[in-house]
Amino acid sequence: MLENLTPQKPDALLALIKMYAADERDDKIDLGVGVYRTGDGGTPVFRSIKAAEERLLGSQTSKAYLGPEGDMGFVHALMPYLFGTDDPAKGGRIDGMQTPGGTGAVRLALAVAKNAGVTRIHLGEPSWPNHAQIIDDLGLERAAFDHASDGRANVDTLLSIIERAAEGEAVLLHGCCHNPTGIDYTDGDWDRIADAFAGSRALPIVDVAYQGLGRGFDEDAYGVRRIVDTVDEALFCYSCDKNFGLYRDRVGAFYAMTKAPDDLKLVLSNASALARANWSMPPDHGAAAVREILDDDDLTEDWQDEVASMRQRLGEMREALGGADNRVPGLDLTRLSQQYGLFAMLDLTPQQIQRLRDEHGIYMAGSGRINVAGLTRGNIGKFIDALAQVTARTS
Ligand code: LMR
Repeated sequence: MLENLTPQKPDALLALIKMYAADERDDKIDLGVGVYRTGDGGTPVFRSIKAAEERLLGSQTSKAYLGPEGDMGFVHALMPYLFGTDDPAKGGRIDGMQTPGGTGAVRLALAVAKNAGVTRIHLGEPSWPNHAQIIDDLGLERAAFDHASDGRANVDTLLSIIERAAEGEAVLLHGCCHNPTGIDYTDGDWDRIADAFAGSRALPIVDVAYQGLGRGFDEDAYGVRRIVDTVDEALFCYSCDKNFGLYRDRVGAFYAMTKAPDDLKLVLSNASALARANWSMPPDHGAAAVREILDDDDLTEDWQDEVASMRQRLGEMREALGGADNRVPGLDLTRLSQQYGLFAMLDLTPQQIQRLRDEHGIYMAGSGRINVAGLTRGNIGKFIDALAQVTARTS
């Protein structure tokens, strides 16, 4: 029967990792997959993670199973960062589970929503490609709307979707550092979005994969906290890939907020059953290291410093790109300095993206998304010159 399978396209973003590795040019630039890079172009293990791992090595006495919910110490330690330090569990209305990365969290949130009767998910596009893949794989209907136009989020479109939603509909939003556009909702937008959800039948699902890399930890959680303060029910997905640098260790969390604490048990019993059927239980090591950091004031301070320097470097590269606008007349680079997080979209044609790769060794997603963290003081000049070349009019 296996010959009946239909070939699947390889994931374009993950294929870029291999193409970049195979390129032998010394001055190649990787702006592809969303991995943070330092000013030297590396992705080292965080100092705070190294220290936490050393402690774990000495203190961990067993690797016996933990259960589908994973490390609840980790799950609870993250909650003040996401939901605020003032009663993060909101009177027993919020709790969660550990998941294998942010992908596991999104999978679980959408699967729980489906169990609850959700059949249609509204998704602003472009979005992280895996959002659509997971929605489709779960057999949910995907209703797309344009996330942004002219460099601004289409908040009125979103508000009308929320207001008109029928029973059985959910809206999947990026909490901060929108992937791939870098165009976030403003605080004022979030106020309106939260109010709209309060009067709507739509279930909010908020994916937070980059907390701390945008404006700051509290600032990046503004939307989540407004929803928590205003709405009865919501689901949240969290990733520690970027803000703890734990990409391959797969560390994430799923949280649910219900109207009454009793309903929370229902959600978590569904989440546990779904986790068991999908991955049984999440990998422990990375989440244990995060817990070790968050349980220790010195390690927490060091971790926050590390994230602050990442945020600062991203801001510096965005400023430099914005400042180079007049060197690339064919593109609007000024708006990049007003956007947040790892990603930005450049209005390039597939041919221009191909030329950047072939002629200059510059790798970016086929959509025109760049990972701003792939730029450094050392290579940004080359990148801007290459952009000017491929966008120059030939007539
Ligand atoms: C990305 O968007 O590049 C990252 O979130 C990595 C991934 O899994 O796609």
